[in-house]
Amino acid sequence: MANYTQTDSAAGAPLLSVRNLSTHFPLDEGTVIAVDGASFDVFEGQTLGIVGESGCGKSVTARSILGILDKPGLIVDGEILFRRRGRNSGSEEVLDLTSFDPDSSEMRSIRGGEIAYVFQEPMTSFSPVHTIGNQLMEAIMLHQDMGKDEARAMGADLLRRVGIPLPDRRMDEYSFQLSGGLRQRAMIAMALSCSPRILIADEPTTALDVTTQAQILDLMSGLQEDNEMAIMLITHDLGVIAEMADYVVVMYLGQVVESAPVDDIFHNPQHPYTQALLQSIPRIQSTGQDRLASITGSVPHPYARPRGCPFNPRCPAFMLGTCDTSEPRLQPIGTRHEVSCFLHHGA
Ligand SMILES: Nc1ncnc2c1ncn2[C@@H]1O[C@H](COP(=O)(O)OP(=O)(O)O)[C@@H](O)[C@H]1O
Ligand code: SF4
Ligand SMILES: [Mg+2]
Repeated sequence: MANYTQTDSAAGAPLLSVRNLSTHFPLDEGTVIAVDGASFDVFEGQTLGIVGESGCGKSVTARSILGILDKPGLIVDGEILFRRRGRNSGSEEVLDLTSFDPDSSEMRSIRGGEIAYVFQEPMTSFSPVHTIGNQLMEAIMLHQDMGKDEARAMGADLLRRVGIPLPDRRMDEYSFQLSGGLRQRAMIAMALSCSPRILIADEPTTALDVTTQAQILDLMSGLQEDNEMAIMLITHDLGVIAEMADYVVVMYLGQVVESAPVDDIFHNPQHPYTQALLQSIPRIQSTGQDRLASITGSVPHPYARPRGCPFNPRCPAFMLGTCDTSEPRLQPIGTRHEVSCFLHHGA
């Protein structure tokens, strides 16, 4: 089991606590270990950034929490503890989301209700055959006891809140009539329709131009200030992390290799992978996944995980006889700072 010591912060007990999560895809060719013992916490009113190259298990982690894994994906170990509002006002209960059937009514009410999500387009784009308004109203009425007129008024108000001009008119339009930026704003309106406690945003701005990206990130920060919502922001872009995150989890090959407050990640990174990610940030702003290309080598094939430390074939600090034989574990090295590397603790 992953050594896990990050405890309650000043923000209080975590809203969501992912413990030793492992998610596999058993395929005919072999088993893809997409998430391998990942642990982290999400706190009310804070933004947790999850960063790592493409294929490191960020999206599968999000989809495991939401119970929307593609087949044959399966959570094989770990807990996803979610502190949800109790039925009596003011009360709370802690649920292990891994214990629910993803299609159960319980999970459906949590997903999109208390834990909302926004993904990179086109994965979660609106249905092309229904108007934006109808889809918004459906989402509102699924989670709240509301009539059509009331839901329509709330839908238009949400579009206005996310900065969409002429919201009443947009309600009757189809998603293809909106620009990418407006569509992503509308997705955020949809996600917010049930006052979620947590918003999981997976590469929410990757498909957008730099100006629109900045506007969407501003919008998310503003909404968070308004209602103390927690945000779990997944991105391969360290610039986005620097701007948005309070606390950062760095993932590599399905594992959390370092986690720390955002300032420590940028000014005192301790894992060779985190250091390499930071060195790969180009000075001139560019877009797309090529930002991380300057790290030596590439993420190994998921069936061909190296023995020992998963980063060892690419690590400039590789120690023969240690890094290739034993697996390091995530261990604390400072206040709320954890790292999984033999440079910091013995084999
Ligand atoms: N539906 C799937 N079937 C099989 N393997 C998958 C599936 N989805 C993701 N994976 C694998 O799981 C690993 C983690 O993927 P993912 O979480 O999407 O990475 P990231 O979001 O960090 O780019 C990758 O090796 C990927 O190929
Ligand atoms: S454990 Fe070894 S190979 Fe892995 S990151 Fe640390 S020094 Fe590099
Ligand atoms: Mg992804």
